[in-house]
Amino acid sequence: MPFVTLREVLADAERGKYAVGAFNTNNMEIVQAIVEAAQEERAPVILQASQGALKYAGIRYITAMVRAAVETSTVPIVLHLDHGTSFEQTMLCLKHGFSSVMFDGSKYSLQENIAATRKVVDVAHAMGASVEGELGKIGGTEDDITVDERDALMTDPDEALQFVTETKVDAFAVAIGTAHGTYKGEPKLDFDRLKTIDERVDTAIVLHGASGVPAESITKAISLGVRKINIDTELRQAFTRGVQDVVQNKPGEYDPRKILGPAKEEMKAIIKEKMRLFGCSGKV
Ligand code: G3H
Ligand code: ZN
Repeated sequence: MPFVTLREVLADAERGKYAVGAFNTNNMEIVQAIVEAAQEERAPVILQASQGALKYAGIRYITAMVRAAVETSTVPIVLHLDHGTSFEQTMLCLKHGFSSVMFDGSKYSLQENIAATRKVVDVAHAMGASVEGELGKIGGTEDDITVDERDALMTDPDEALQFVTETKVDAFAVAIGTAHGTYKGEPKLDFDRLKTIDERVDTAIVLHGASGVPAESITKAISLGVRKINIDTELRQAFTRGVQDVVQNKPGEYDPRKILGPAKEEMKAIIKEKMRLFGCSGKV
């Protein structure tokens, strides 16, 4: 099955009122874990690579590994650039066959973000690919931040409609209180803000920083319009857990397959659990 774009999988998700999981990858075991889990769950899936992942593995390896997985899969798969921050980077990914890119212009002013995102959308759409944009700042775990500062970083519902209308993005990443990485306490999501944004925009909403967000909050976010959910940290933790388990319990083990194999299984279990929580299991 060839790659599909966010447009197809997120339109189906909107019709079925569920969310599609977007899992970060940067090596063969992670690609296999994601695609095998999607296949076994009969779920559409988004494999995404960040600029860091592309630097680590190389864009040719990432695209070749995901293509190899897609050749034997029977579920819809999107190959997506996560948090692209330059026009050139997004173009390089499209040239190498990515079916979707994120342009993260959150560091810019509203006008600059709109202009830069629109430029990516124009080319991507002409090539048949989809684009995710971001408004507001998701950032890392912020510990020393005041409530007012936290509020100022979140997506402004008044600007949301202007952003999606003028950029024509296919998916819209919002800042509503989640952060990348691990949380110290329980993350508090601003559901009122999410509800207002969803009432104003028709574009599929994306939740970043979803690792460590309690299941009830995820379910509520989906009921309020979230259609793509990004998970990275929990996969990294699962991978490391698998490796540590073998290294600690079988210190004499030196076969990489017997060290990385269990790590892949740990990741698969987490991915399947997320797919069931997001409601995308059994949708293919
Ligand atoms: O773009 C990637 C995600 O937002 C992942 O966030 O590492 O907190 O799961 P996470
Ligand atoms: Zn993110």
